[in-house]
Amino acid sequence: MKKRVAILISGGGSNMVALVRDMDAGHPAEPVLVLSNNPDAGGLAKAADMGISTTVVDHRPFKGNRAGFEAELHSALVAANPDIICLAGFMRILTPDFIAKWEGKMLNIHPSILPLFTGLHTHQRSLEAGMAVHGCTVHSVTAELDGGPILGQAVIPVQSDDTPDNLAARLLPMEHRLYPAVLRKFASNDDTKVVLFS
Ligand code: GAR
Repeated sequence: MKKRVAILISGGGSNMVALVRDMDAGHPAEPVLVLSNNPDAGGLAKAADMGISTTVVDHRPFKGNRAGFEAELHSALVAANPDIICLAGFMRILTPDFIAKWEGKMLNIHPSILPLFTGLHTHQRSLEAGMAVHGCTVHSVTAELDGGPILGQAVIPVQSDDTPDNLAARLLPMEHRLYPAVLRKFASNDDTKVVLFS
């Protein structure tokens, strides 16, 4: 039986596309849902074009009511019955209560070499810190923001003329290699770490 994968996005969904494309006939998992908190997320149309069910749980009507948003999110996920949830550019912070319901089943990709540079503006902060390398991490999601066990990392060199934007652009193709490679192992219960160098 293939594992059922739900993918949560907020924007363009390029990591989601990389994950879905990798889930071919021989893959241990299959995509069953793409969910966005943002009705305008470009990734929704891309998912629909690939024949994946999509749904939106808009966070905006729940302003000041995070528990209400997360209850709706949880219901939408329960309806899809996923074995694995991949956060792929999902830009809402989830509470420990919500994460506890899915802990051990939820993965996230973060655009830095964790545990460095948790949170936002990771490319700019890597440059400001004078890093010689930059990268991305896929980790299991725990209550600590960007702090769960590391499942894989990809590393690229920082160039002297890099800006946050072109560093992000050079990193993204590595994210697209790393996340599918980690998901394949995770869905096969293989807990060896993935390491990629550009
Ligand atoms: C990716 O770079 C991902 O690592 C980052 O958002 C981008 C989403 O792009 N995630 C975070 O910053 C999470 N804190 P995509 O929508 O094209 O996959």
